[in-house]
Amino acid sequence: MANTIKIFDTTLRDGEQSPGCSMNLSEKLEMALQLERLGVDIIEAGFAIASPGDFQSVNQIAKAVKNTRVASLARALTKDIDAAAEAVKEAAYPRIHTFIATSDIHMQYKLQKTPEQVLETAVEMVKYAKKYCGDIEFSAEDASRSNPVFLYQIIEAVIQAGATVVNVPDTVGYTSPEEFFTLIKGIRENVPSIDKVDISVHCHNDLGLAVANSLAAIKAGATQIECTINGIGERAGNAALEEIVMNLGVRRDLYNLGTNINTKEIYRTSKLLSSITGVKVQPNKAIVGENAFAHESGIHQHGVLANKETYEIMTPESIGLTENKMVLGKHSGRHAFVDRIKTMGYTLEEDALNKAFEQFKVLADKKKVVTNKDVEALVRRKTIVI
Ligand code: KIV
Ligand code: ZN
Repeated sequence: MANTIKIFDTTLRDGEQSPGCSMNLSEKLEMALQLERLGVDIIEAGFAIASPGDFQSVNQIAKAVKNTRVASLARALTKDIDAAAEAVKEAAYPRIHTFIATSDIHMQYKLQKTPEQVLETAVEMVKYAKKYCGDIEFSAEDASRSNPVFLYQIIEAVIQAGATVVNVPDTVGYTSPEEFFTLIKGIRENVPSIDKVDISVHCHNDLGLAVANSLAAIKAGATQIECTINGIGERAGNAALEEIVMNLGVRRDLYNLGTNINTKEIYRTSKLLSSITGVKVQPNKAIVGENAFAHESGIHQHGVLANKETYEIMTPESIGLTENKMVLGKHSGRHAFVDRIKTMGYTLEEDALNKAFEQFKVLADKKKVVTNKDVEALVRRKTIVI
């Protein structure tokens, strides 16, 4: 098994399908260049057939990005594949990503096709795409709700037809880590040609399990993870890139696998996306939320001031931040208060310090956060400035 997991970023395709997250050409280009700096292996730049604007975005990104593979999505239809092929043809490393649904509910009500017809279409369209491009990804939409035996058959058939990556999406975020582990393991054990291709997974977050399911798939042998910055995407979003990558980095003892991501670019990439889309990241979001490296309670602040590892399992520097944050509030203790006074350049006699700390506690009960200005006002009257 390869010891590097490929990161397929779909911020500019599935992420953009998130309400309020659509981006114009120059915004998508700026984001794509930042994703390249971040070190993702594949950028899914858009869905070329979706609109003339999306075609242009995929095409411009394909030309601008030099070191990263660029993919366009296409349904299993010749017109979609033609558009995708045209859009990515000038990429240094192009990929066509074609998909068709394989669950009974999608085949019956959406496609109105029998499983035999779906299998035949998948094979024909992979062969059709292969005439344009060497690298073809095939996705079995709604795979997690599909009959596993049918999945094994269609995956083997598309590999024989030329697919280089087979993607197993949890399209509606329905699966659980145990179930998804079993599904991916079943694919590894029952698809004869599976070792010739990358096994990819694409998890949605409807039940809040997108990252956990992706990690379970890695344990079962998945070699590519599809994800987005800040976890944006259809409905409740996709697996968050930063969470997948930092899980692999921090818990190397569990996974023993790396990525090509330069983690120091994570925070910048997250900020760029929210400034482009105007969609804020929730403060308690893992890795990139404003509170991810903030400490407010006295017990935690005391611990972190003594040794950061008491309450930090990764460093802020590892994701591109310069430092952690000590937030002064009603739960804060004397250690953090004294530390703040010192870093602001003040020193207080013992009595004055006791008084200032008492007043700080009274103020903290009235305010959510005690700012440096507040601290300054508290200590000024009682200080010797150093
Ligand atoms: O969620 C999904 O199934 C998709 C596919 C097109 C890969 O986005
Ligand atoms: Zn999706």
